[in-house]
Amino acid sequence: MGHSVFRTSLGEMVVGDCLNVLRALPDDSIDLVVTSPPYDGQPKYGNGEKYERDWYHGFFMQVTEQIFRVLKPRGSFVLNYRSKRHGDERGVLQYEMIFWLREQGFLFCEDFIWGKPSPPPGRFKRYLKDAVEYCFQFSKGPDWQFFPENCLSPARWDAKDRERRKRLAHNYVRVNAPSGQGRRRVQAGPDMVRPSTLLHFEPEFSPNPVKHPARFPLELPSFFIRLLTMPDQLVLDPFGGTGTTALAAEKLGRRWLVTEIDPKYAAVLPSRIASGR
Ligand SMILES: C[S@@+](CC[C@H](N)C(=O)[O-])C[C@H]1O[C@@H](n2cnc3c(N)ncnc32)[C@H](O)[C@@H]1O
Repeated sequence: MGHSVFRTSLGEMVVGDCLNVLRALPDDSIDLVVTSPPYDGQPKYGNGEKYERDWYHGFFMQVTEQIFRVLKPRGSFVLNYRSKRHGDERGVLQYEMIFWLREQGFLFCEDFIWGKPSPPPGRFKRYLKDAVEYCFQFSKGPDWQFFPENCLSPARWDAKDRERRKRLAHNYVRVNAPSGQGRRRVQAGPDMVRPSTLLHFEPEFSPNPVKHPARFPLELPSFFIRLLTMPDQLVLDPFGGTGTTALAAEKLGRRWLVTEIDPKYAAVLPSRIASGR
């Protein structure tokens, strides 16, 4: 099963194999799953697992089958993933997984792009620094809950664009002024706008005492929690690592359940929650 190593009034970190923990959860009980499984070929977790294609097609698909079962009908599953290069070719596992998940019954709702303004350095002969990862959103049906108004970001109209917009006819409204028919000037655009599917988050640079090789930036789970859940709903991260999803959910007042197989990574969560970062 797994054992609980840390609790707050909102959530619980369980150390163990996520598949066993998931199997014990009731059907239709989770509002959002946001997770990043190990990358293919990731050698750094020290548990002997090589994370080759077979692991994703076998073990990971058993995990996602359970995710489908435990997700509420209006819930979402956000999968952060990026295939490694394999020699001359960009890995295609990221795309294969979408088809496998659709075969399991998931609806492929959206592919968010996580762009890293400052990607890790590197100089390569025939390809460029990799500054992109995917966040694939899946649901059980078309009626997933969605709160973009909780993720508004400041509009980036520059002065020139604002002037251009003011001249566009659709930025005027017709009014029945006392003097008769007329047009009244309206604001050229709102100051706060819905986000797009292009997310800009820096890679995680904060202190990393346990040397976890692939942590979420806190903004990533925070964004999807605000977009896809309401306060007090339940967020699950089965491949929890250092508990970034737990920290995000805790700060946003959502209930959370996070599992991680390696106790060393899970152990940093209490101090992260205490410091808020
Ligand atoms: C990409 S990392 C997730 C990092 C996390 N998002 C964070 O911000 O720290 C994937 C994690 O999955 C864990 N893991 C691998 N197999 C697992 C399993 N069967 N059950 C639970 N966790 C597992 C690894 O130890 C690793 O910490």
